[in-house]
Amino acid sequence: MAVQAQALRQAMRHWATGVTVVTSRGPGGPHGITVNSFGSLSLDPPLCLICIDRRTRAHKEIPRAGAFAVNILSDRQEEVAARFAGRRPDLTDPFAGLPLTAAPSGAPVFTGAVGYLDCVLQDQLDGGDHTIFVGCVQHAEAATAGGSPLLFYGGAFRRVAED
Ligand SMILES: Cc1cc2nc3c(=O)[nH]c(=O)nc-3n(C[C@H](O)[C@H](O)[C@H](O)COP(=O)(O)O)c2cc1C
Repeated sequence: MAVQAQALRQAMRHWATGVTVVTSRGPGGPHGITVNSFGSLSLDPPLCLICIDRRTRAHKEIPRAGAFAVNILSDRQEEVAARFAGRRPDLTDPFAGLPLTAAPSGAPVFTGAVGYLDCVLQDQLDGGDHTIFVGCVQHAEAATAGGSPLLFYGGAFRRVAED
């Protein structure tokens, strides 16, 4: 018998991750979604994956754009993560006022992110109530100024502790 959802959630609370905002720019304009189900999949060819809930807008927007950028957030961008997780309902445009550049695909890149990967959507695999989007990485950048990544653990945003 499959595990109870509550037990699965409880166990997963102990899994620490980074936090990304996956952006795309399709015919309908820019979109972003906060994602922690991001992983590096292959170096040769260079592939990464994200798991996207079928009920989200991103689930339509990413295939429409055919490309996406994974912005790896810094520990100064907790508010950016909140915006693209639907936690700022007061904002009609979650991109409003954020300093941005564009990836080669046209997807928005957040100034101050610790790095980003720009990907062409290569594959979509069934993942239950999510879809696994596989991206072929066309371009990758790490912030030259360094900075620490934002973390998510125990249902809360966290920071890396200094030694
Ligand atoms: C830390 C964190 C991580 C998240 N990771 C994911 C994820 O990996 N996949 C996903 O589909 N939703 C994830 N979400 C939820 C989405 O960000 C949220 O449902 C968002 O509002 C969807 O936006 P959209 O419908 O405009 O695309 C996460 C939320 C938070 C706070």
